[in-house]
Amino acid sequence: MYICICKGVTDTAIREAVCQGADRMRDLKSCLGVSEQCGICATHAQEVLEQALVQKTHTNQFLPRPPAY
Ligand code: FES
Repeated sequence: MYICICKGVTDTAIREAVCQGADRMRDLKSCLGVSEQCGICATHAQEVLEQALVQKTHTNQFLPRPPAY
């Protein structure tokens, strides 16, 4: 689903950016251009960002840890 119409940014693109390390709106702005033009998307982009960060945290909790040597 498109989140930012001005820049053609989807929720999937935001989730991928979070997987790559984005964790603030500032990061989404610099890497995807979210909310750089009209700004109408900012609130929704923030919601997707927060959901993606929660998902990332939960996913990382259940990944196997490398052995400690
Ligand atoms: S919809 Fe994102 S800047 Fe306009």
